[in-house]
Amino acid sequence: MALKITVIGTGYLGATHAAAMAELGFEVLGLDVVPEKIEMLQRGEVPMYEPGLEELLRKHVAGIEGSSGRLRFTMDFAEVAEFGDIHFVCVNTPQKHGEYACDMSYVDAAFASLAPHLTGPALVVGKSTVPVGSADRLARTLTGLAPAGEDVELAWNPEFLREGFAVQDTLHPDRIVAGIRSERAEKLLREVYATPLSEGTPFVVTDFPTAELVKTAANSFLATKISFINAMAEVCEAGGGDVVKLAEAIGHDDRIGKKFLRAGIGFGGGCLPKDIRAFMARAGELGADQALTFLREIDSINMRRRGQMVEMTREALGGSSFLGKRIAVLGATFKPDSDDVRDSPALNVAGQIHLQGGQVTVYDPKGMDNARRLFPTLGYAETAVDAVRGAHAVLHLTEWREFRELDPAALGEVAADRVVLDGRNALDPSAWRAAGWTYRAMGRPTA
Ligand code: UGA
Repeated sequence: MALKITVIGTGYLGATHAAAMAELGFEVLGLDVVPEKIEMLQRGEVPMYEPGLEELLRKHVAGIEGSSGRLRFTMDFAEVAEFGDIHFVCVNTPQKHGEYACDMSYVDAAFASLAPHLTGPALVVGKSTVPVGSADRLARTLTGLAPAGEDVELAWNPEFLREGFAVQDTLHPDRIVAGIRSERAEKLLREVYATPLSEGTPFVVTDFPTAELVKTAANSFLATKISFINAMAEVCEAGGGDVVKLAEAIGHDDRIGKKFLRAGIGFGGGCLPKDIRAFMARAGELGADQALTFLREIDSINMRRRGQMVEMTREALGGSSFLGKRIAVLGATFKPDSDDVRDSPALNVAGQIHLQGGQVTVYDPKGMDNARRLFPTLGYAETAVDAVRGAHAVLHLTEWREFRELDPAALGEVAADRVVLDGRNALDPSAWRAAGWTYRAMGRPTA
């Protein structure tokens, strides 16, 4: 009989995982503790913007016309325990307030709520990003609290999906990491992922600590790559070099590679910043803090870029204050193709300029509602052109395709001054300069 799967936590990770499991042919029950989320999902609506996810949900959510009916949602842990052979835990692990460490309270609550209902054999699979050592502890919680005792087993199976590509990354992952303690657990995970495995996706079997560490190591490496190129941007700014050319040239060395070498205002979002901090905190607890002190530098290079963007803007506006200046900010989300504004470098820059007296007007294709909630005092415009109208400087801070397709000549007609600062090195400098704009970018020479 086909495996029945449950997914606990329906954020970016869980909602996508649940829909993807239904797409792979399994019967799926998703759970969340937030009633509004469950109501939306039951209607086939996604609580966030993620390309392709709503279509995939609607294809499978029970009760939607023409759907496979394989995907349902609930708030009841007893129902989840009763239904599933495999339970994926996909709740978030944010940064603790006022500390670097990871807040495990949602993971702990999920295990504490599920375990007492597990009366028969089951595999619980952790997907959340957690500090090394958590799986070992949670395995003990599980067997301690579950009436089925040792028949309930844990596996750790980190997730590497990127926002904006969540559906594709979940259905066609570039690797599957399985932290397991038994052949049975490995067999079940191989069954769940039979389709991607048949497509040739590598399956890496590890112990618990390695599986947990793969995830934080991967995100730390990505953060390091970005901060490396941003450090090169700082040196280029000082020495008159061009970081975009530099990245292109070093990227031809396939040991280095071209990806994640886009210099700009740096990384943000709900993962990279908090993951490197939690990793440092955990290494400290383990007495290995020296091994990760470099991540402190990665973090500070990253945060410095935001300040540098503010200073570049001040300079472009004449060098003194932002008072009386109107600044258009194009982009609010932490990356394009997402509505996520968590730790967004774009909004951070917008907020800093606003606090220093600038009149900031933000436009973003998908992030407006979330941005307004987080920064209600900023100005917002309905279109890019409206944001730019009357502006003394235009800041390009999230590289949406829509912004690359803007007509610099038409924008020049409505701006007060033709000054554009590209915080993502993604606009075409020659097109903007040809339309009479002063174009400046991070780590690139002024024309
Ligand atoms: C990241 C990882 O890439 C995923 O593999 C991982 O699964 C996920 O975190 C997670 O832990 O859940 P994501 O947060 O969606 O995914 O975003 P990224 O695509 O990694 O981008 C992060 C930030 O780096 C963005 O603000 C982006 O603008 C910035 N970035 C990226 C650069 O500044 N330069 C680059 O060259 C690349």
